[in-house]
Amino acid sequence: MHGKDWEPWRPGLKLPLPGLPRVIAHRGASAAAPENTLAAFRLAHERGARMVELDARLTRDGVLVAIHDSTLDRTTDGHGRVIETDSATIALLDAGSWFDPAFRGERVPTLEEALALLANLGLAVNVELKADPGQEARTGAEAARLIARVWPSDGPPVLLSSFQEETLLAARHEVPELPRGLLRERAGPDWREAMERLACTTLHLAAHHLEAPLVHELYREAVPVLAYTVNDPREAKRLFDWGVRAIFTDVPEEIASVAPPLPHSWN
Ligand code: G3P
Ligand code: CA
Repeated sequence: MHGKDWEPWRPGLKLPLPGLPRVIAHRGASAAAPENTLAAFRLAHERGARMVELDARLTRDGVLVAIHDSTLDRTTDGHGRVIETDSATIALLDAGSWFDPAFRGERVPTLEEALALLANLGLAVNVELKADPGQEARTGAEAARLIARVWPSDGPPVLLSSFQEETLLAARHEVPELPRGLLRERAGPDWREAMERLACTTLHLAAHHLEAPLVHELYREAVPVLAYTVNDPREAKRLFDWGVRAIFTDVPEEIASVAPPLPHSWN
């Protein structure tokens, strides 16, 4: 189920990661549709993406919803903190008009609704967990339980990630076989130790901090590096050439046009 062939990274282990494409639509096709909405996920699929990234966080009543910010203000017509708002209230908000009036009526999907659509479309997904202070363990455990319950056993891969290690640990405790990605701005001197401690499969790093020597080192160590967020095809080409495994982008069709085939060593 969901990436069962995706083992945690270990020194010396080459992971082919079947089903991980080179391009991941960041918050859906978020340059052309409101981020983290069903419309953005559908559009990513229409534009040829095979995997999307989305952000998920808890509401006051403990429902995971797909939204990036800790507050509702930027991407909906509501106000206040997601963690202080009930899911029934969030379900009524308009999450499309802020982006373009053509998307009026788009909702903040629950994670469960988003997963149902993605499974239907056959899209792989990276669920990035964003936990409010004090909610780290609950967020990780809830997400892992939900995915294990709803994602089809023969579905495409599901990859969890989080900047918050406690969240990943809780997910690991709940559903150990659900693949995890270590999400950081920079790799940091302890990336090996953290990857092994959290039994992570992938390492997600901010593209603007990446430099060739580090990416070369990670490539030699067969660490699958997923770089975010790259919308410039020339930058994407450079990162792929250095050895980045996959790129998160708001413009999946543009980045797909420069994505080279996987080197043999990844197969
Ligand atoms: O998961 C990669 C990337 O999405 C992390 O940054 O702020 O876009 O969620 P952010
Ligand atoms: Ca994200």
